[in-house]
Amino acid sequence: MIIIGSDHGGLALKTALNSYLKRRNVMVHDAGTCSDASVDYPDFGQKVAESVMNGDADLGILICGTGIGMSIAANKVPGIRAALVTDVFMARMAKEHNNANVLVLGGRVLDEQKACDLVGTWLDSTFEGGRHQARLDKITALEKKYSTL
Ligand code: RB5
Repeated sequence: MIIIGSDHGGLALKTALNSYLKRRNVMVHDAGTCSDASVDYPDFGQKVAESVMNGDADLGILICGTGIGMSIAANKVPGIRAALVTDVFMARMAKEHNNANVLVLGGRVLDEQKACDLVGTWLDSTFEGGRHQARLDKITALEKKYSTL
């Protein structure tokens, strides 16, 4: 199951991605927001990231205006590797090299077709492991060094 969330700046793209994922027969849980009213992106970043951290969702997608705030927020949650991507190469690398478990997009940066292409590329790519796993292990060690949990 994929959990998807946005603020008001990402709402239109979230609606388009919900339809795209359903067309791909992917089970989706929409964590909001559901209206144009101004909301705070960290609230939705937290919901999606914690759901992935807990294993309630396999992967997450987050969208705000630029994707910057959502990626900063989601990456505060232990175990989250949130990747902000703007092109197909980055979307592929986000999985192959970084094993990103949350994809982050900018609703005011991408058109709907491009966003669907990025999500599709990320979903269809495979983590390469090997030297990339060793690098992710270093990120986990860094996270643990500063964790108070
Ligand atoms: C909201 O106006 C905007 O700041 C937000 O969507 C996002 O771009 C933050 O990084």
